[in-house]
Amino acid sequence: MFQWIPSTVGLVEVEEEITNSNPYFNFVSKGKEQFTRDEIKAEIEEAGRVGAGRFILQDKGNNIGVLEYLLHNASDHCTWLGLLLIKKECHGQGYGTRALLQFEQFLRGKAISKYRIGVIAENEPAHRFWGRHGFQKVGATINQDHKEFVIYEKVLHPVSSEVWLVKPNLALEDEYKSFYEEWKSSGENMVPWVISKDPSNFQSMLQSLTDSELGEGLPEGWVPDSTYWLVDGNCRVLGAVNIRHRLNESLYSAGGHIGYGIRPSERRKGYATKLLELSLLKAKELGIDRVLVVCDSDNIASERIILKNGGVRDTDFVEEDGNMIKRFWINTSVLE
Ligand SMILES: CC(C)(COP(=O)(O)OP(=O)(O)OC[C@H]1O[C@@H](n2cnc3c(N)ncnc32)[C@H](O)[C@@H]1OP(=O)(O)O)[C@@H](O)C(=O)NCCC(=O)NCCS
Repeated sequence: MFQWIPSTVGLVEVEEEITNSNPYFNFVSKGKEQFTRDEIKAEIEEAGRVGAGRFILQDKGNNIGVLEYLLHNASDHCTWLGLLLIKKECHGQGYGTRALLQFEQFLRGKAISKYRIGVIAENEPAHRFWGRHGFQKVGATINQDHKEFVIYEKVLHPVSSEVWLVKPNLALEDEYKSFYEEWKSSGENMVPWVISKDPSNFQSMLQSLTDSELGEGLPEGWVPDSTYWLVDGNCRVLGAVNIRHRLNESLYSAGGHIGYGIRPSERRKGYATKLLELSLLKAKELGIDRVLVVCDSDNIASERIILKNGGVRDTDFVEEDGNMIKRFWINTSVLE
């Protein structure tokens, strides 16, 4: 979890370092790449004046980003996330997602069920980020600097039903290790197989997942695959999925495109059903029109999950040791 340190003018140097590490964002928002200390100080003071909460996000003592919100905007009675800025060198590691999940938990604790953000029209990477996190466009406006803004809104569902697939990332190191340790100490077979990778050197484990996705350094005959983690609003890693980009002969018979698992303490809560549903969308993005999902013939839970996600039974496959595999196809072209 991040530490949220209330930002004050006394911390302006910290904010300055974070802000000025993002020249592109500064340029699209204010037309210049670097802000002066006085300009940043003025923003901190303005947040205090309008009653906004403004925090420096810290992870293990490192300053990661700045987050500002207004719980109640008097002019439209909406809650706004005014700023989420992650330090440039921390981009691409899941910190933005994690900050957002924590912020949303905080809002739920205040019984707030939706909130808004304004995104500068030309800030393309930001639109992709907010789109991925379930925001819907609800309007547009022009601000006092004559910048066009798109207004997005997100409806917050009760946390139990709100889970996401995220790419393995550094920000979830502690949460992932807890997932791994729990599964390992259960003594159960680790499924999908990628979760058996030792995460003690976390960076190198992440790198191996990235390499597999890019198809680099794969053993002979292996196909590229993508791994995602299923997380809830508390950033708890509930499960994992591994999506093979195409089938080879053994995957066609007995592995299928998608392998998944839910940590023992989180089973029988519907998470695997949701995990497969979300994974099918990822498979569709990867261009897989017909997804093969398989399970051992005695894995009743998995069979139900596959059927509930539209699985159509194909012929079974019997492995050399006599184990019977049930094989199902799911058409992704009908999914939205
Ligand atoms: C199989 C697994 C993914 C199920 O995860 P889960 O989150 O408990 O599944 P869900 O809660 O979505 O349950 C799906 C269905 O299976 C049923 N189910 C779950 N566990 C069950 C069990 N042990 N016995 C019988 N049915 C079970 C649920 O009741 C539900 O059926 P319903 O919706 O008709 O009531 C999980 O047990 C697991 O990770 N096992 C080890 C790895 C594995 O086998 N992966 C699948 C490889 S193909």
